[in-house]
Amino acid sequence: MAQEDNFKKFVAHCKEYGYVFPSSEIYDGLSAVYDYGQYGVELKNNIKKYWWDSMVLLNDNIVGLDSAIFMHPTIWKASGHVDAFNDPLIDNKDSKKRYRADVLIEEHIAKIEDKINKEVDKAKERFGESFDEKKFRETNQRVLANQAKIDEINARFSKALNDSDLPGIRQIIIDNEIVCPISGTRNWTEVRQFNLMFSTEMGSTSDGANKIYLRPETAQGIFVNFLNVQKTGRMKLPFGIAQIGKAFRNEIVARQFIFRMREFEQMEMQFFVQPGTELEWFSKWKETRMKWHQALGFGSEKYRFHDHTKLAHYANAATDIEFRFPFGFKEVEGIHSRTDYDLKQHQEYSGKKMQYFDPEKGESYVPYVIETSIGVDRMFLQVISASYAEEELKKEDGSTDTRVVLRLPAYLAPVKLAVMPLVKKDGLPEIAEKIVHDLKFDFNCQYDDKDSIGRRYRRQDAIGTPYCITIDHQTLEDKSVTIRYRDSMEQERVKIDQLKDIISEKVSIQSLLKKL
Ligand code: GAP
Repeated sequence: MAQEDNFKKFVAHCKEYGYVFPSSEIYDGLSAVYDYGQYGVELKNNIKKYWWDSMVLLNDNIVGLDSAIFMHPTIWKASGHVDAFNDPLIDNKDSKKRYRADVLIEEHIAKIEDKINKEVDKAKERFGESFDEKKFRETNQRVLANQAKIDEINARFSKALNDSDLPGIRQIIIDNEIVCPISGTRNWTEVRQFNLMFSTEMGSTSDGANKIYLRPETAQGIFVNFLNVQKTGRMKLPFGIAQIGKAFRNEIVARQFIFRMREFEQMEMQFFVQPGTELEWFSKWKETRMKWHQALGFGSEKYRFHDHTKLAHYANAATDIEFRFPFGFKEVEGIHSRTDYDLKQHQEYSGKKMQYFDPEKGESYVPYVIETSIGVDRMFLQVISASYAEEELKKEDGSTDTRVVLRLPAYLAPVKLAVMPLVKKDGLPEIAEKIVHDLKFDFNCQYDDKDSIGRRYRRQDAIGTPYCITIDHQTLEDKSVTIRYRDSMEQERVKIDQLKDIISEKVSIQSLLKKL
C-alpha cells in the first residue's frame, strides 16, 4: 500500500511540475494516453538525443530513417501482425472488467514467487551469515511445493500459448482459482483473441476506401526501406538503420502511468548482418545496450537481463533489459535476433528481391537482423522514477524539513541552470539577466526572481535543475556568484566568467557518450 501511495505521489509530482499530463484532461482524460508538458518534452528530447547520438553519431555504419506512420496494409499481413498480433482477453461477468488472460496467469505466478521469496527472506534473517540460499531453495518443503506449482502452470501455459489453445488458457485460470481483483469472483467468460492494431480508412468511400493501420512498431518502416538505404547509402554489411517514432497499440489493459500506453514512441535499430554471424552480434548488442543504460548512473543492481526461453517463431535468440521500476522489475528494452524472417516475408509479399550482394563472397543473400527496441516513454519513466526522491533535511536550529528532488542526470535535465538575483534591486536583476542572455546559447537557462531564495531552490529541486546561480551584493564588488549544487546542496563561490566551463563539463551529452 505504501508503495502504491508513493507511486501516486510521484505521478502527481509529474503533473504538478509540468512533466506529464493526462491527455484531454478537461474532458476527463483519454485512457492510457498522455501529454508531455514543458519540462517533460525537454527530458524526452534529451533522452532521444542520447539514444540517437549513441547509434548514429558513434557508429559510422548506422544511419537514421524517418518513415511514415501510414504504410501499405499488406506490410502488416507480411509481418504477421494482421493474423497474430493478438492478446488473449477475458472478461469477468460480475465486475464487467476486461483482462489479459496471460497477464492474470503471470500475476498469479508472481504471487507464488513472492511467497517463495518471503520464505527465503525469513530464513535468511533466522540463519544470518551461515545461510546457504541455494541449498535452502533445493530442500525446503514449502519452497519446493510452490516451485512445483509454478513449473506446472508454466508448462501448461507455454503449451496452450504455442497451440493457440484459448480454452486451455481459460482452464488454467479456473484450475488455479484465479479471481477478478475487483469482484473477487471466478465468473469468467471464454478467452478470445483481440488484435492490438488500430485501423482507419484511407481515401473517400466513393473511390473505394482502404483499411489501413496505425503502425504498432516502427521496425517495419525500416525493413521495407532496407534496399533504399542500402543502395543510396552504399552500405556494406554489417550496417544498421535507426529510427525514432510513434507507435500505436490498442492495449487491453493499460496501466501503471506511462508504462503501457495506447500511443507511444519507440527507438528501434535494425542491424543487418551476414547469416551465421547473428548470434555473435546479438551478444555484442546485448552488452552495448546494457552499457548505454548503466552509463546514466542509477546503479547496476537496478538492471537485469531476462532471456526468453519461449522464442517467437522468427527469432533464434531474444532478451529483455528489465529495470527495477517502483512496481518491480519490468521490460524497458527488447533485443531480438530476428533471423531473415521479416525481409523474406516482404520479399514474398511484394515480389521484390530483398537481397544484399556481398562483394567479398561474390553472392547475394537475404541478411539476418538483430533488433534493439526501446520505448521512449518507458525510458522516460525509468529516468524520472529513479531520480525522484523525498528527503528529510536537518535545519540549523535542529528542526527538520523535507524536500522533493529530481536527481536527474545533469545531461538529461530539462533546465540546466537557474539564475537568481538575491533581491530585485541594486542592479542584481540586470546582472542575472545578462548571465542568462550570455549562457542561453549553450544551455537551457531559467531566470527566477520570485519568492525567497529558499523557495526558489526548492522549486528548482522539484524540476531537477542541477545548478542554481545566485547573484548577491558581493557580485557587484568582485564579479563572483554562488553556484549551488542540487544533489549535495553545497554552495561554492566562482567567477561569472568561469560559469560556462564549469557547467559545460557537467551537462554536455558528449561526456555521457564518452562513457560508452
Ligand atoms: N519491434 C519490436 C517490438 O516492438 P516490443 O517488445 O513489442 O517489440 C519494444 O516493444 C519496446 O517498446 C518495449 O520494450 C517497450 O519499451 C516499448 N513498448 C511496447 N509496448 C508499449 C506500450 N504499450 N506503451 C509504452 N511502451 C511500449
